[in-house]
Amino acid sequence: MSNQTDAQQTPLLQVHDLRVEFSTSQGIATAINGVDLSVSAGQSLGILGESGSGKSVTARTIMGLLDTPPARVVGGQILLEGEDLLSLPSKVRRSLNGPRMAMVFQDALSALNPVHPVGRQIGELFRVHRGYSRAAAKRAAIELMDRVKIPAASSRVNDYPHQFSGGMRQRIVIAMALALDPQLLIADEPTTALDVTVQAQILALLKEQQVERNMGLVLITHDISVVREVTDHVAVMYAGRVVEQGPTAQVLSAPRHPYTRGLAESVASEELKGSRLPAIPGSPPDLLNLPMGCSFANRCWLATEECNGRVPTLTELGESRATACFHHEEVQPYAAHSR
Ligand SMILES: Nc1ncnc2c1ncn2[C@@H]1O[C@H](COP(=O)(O)OP(=O)(O)OP(=O)(O)O)[C@@H](O)[C@H]1O
Ligand code: SF4
Ligand SMILES: [Mg+2]
Repeated sequence: MSNQTDAQQTPLLQVHDLRVEFSTSQGIATAINGVDLSVSAGQSLGILGESGSGKSVTARTIMGLLDTPPARVVGGQILLEGEDLLSLPSKVRRSLNGPRMAMVFQDALSALNPVHPVGRQIGELFRVHRGYSRAAAKRAAIELMDRVKIPAASSRVNDYPHQFSGGMRQRIVIAMALALDPQLLIADEPTTALDVTVQAQILALLKEQQVERNMGLVLITHDISVVREVTDHVAVMYAGRVVEQGPTAQVLSAPRHPYTRGLAESVASEELKGSRLPAIPGSPPDLLNLPMGCSFANRCWLATEECNGRVPTLTELGESRATACFHHEEVQPYAAHSR
């Protein structure tokens, strides 16, 4: 097999059995308890899960931002094109942020420096990483602002962050993340702070850039409709683990984990009532004191003795699907239940 074929077959990002703990005054909180993920070039992966399920901790660990106390990576691998990022010295690891991988956060305002014009902040990346002159960096910044559809970019390049709307600021943050052509972009709830129309525009921009650049995109959200519209694959997280992963349309219409099934159903019924928030009865386990068996057992209508005795691991089902449930064959397709 040629090297080229090998490279094509190696996923862009693979996360294996990742474990992250936090020291707290009450004890050790197991925030990430064996996460497995895979993203290929040109693929968009949604990470879906309730608040506290570990989406942001996973993302920040992948980006190398959680390598100091109280956080501790206690196990696993994060492979970028097969290279284990956790084994790299932190300086080398951080040098990958920008050129190889980049992240967009929810709050655009805090990601921008209020005292510098936006064009200078974008241009700085070209100056530092590519050695551009001041004039060339400014031209590159305008071009990038144009690509993320900021109207009249050349006349706005010297404006300050506060002179832009929330949606335009998020476009600037996305421009900065894309500046050095990363292979992987992680967006953590990039539209939560924006109104619905602007949300749709920002998501469309992310999707367009991902396709155009053949980039891997990880889109974190707790909004199932965003996952449905933007991503081709989805990973569902619960209590620090991925409990189901696969092609988005299949996972959402024919879930193979009761938690995914519950999410899909609750969102549909809540939509009917005019609210987006999922409501599965019960609450997630205490991360300071995780159960011995399946973390979802106390909320699961299919739970048996076996579920309380040991943790179900994420198991391949074929057709790029995987689930972490002993009784996945008993999970009913969502469409069959909907009225
Ligand atoms: N610095 C910290 N110290 C202690 N616990 C933390 C810390 N950061 C995160 N955690 C815990 O890790 C768990 C996972 O948090 P995370 O932020 O990843 O959740 P999330 O899925 O992103 O939720 P949300 O949808 O609310 O953003 C939570 O229980 C959280 O309280
Ligand atoms: S392993 Fe058991 S408790 Fe866990 S989700 Fe599956 S059926 Fe429910
Ligand atoms: Mg989060």
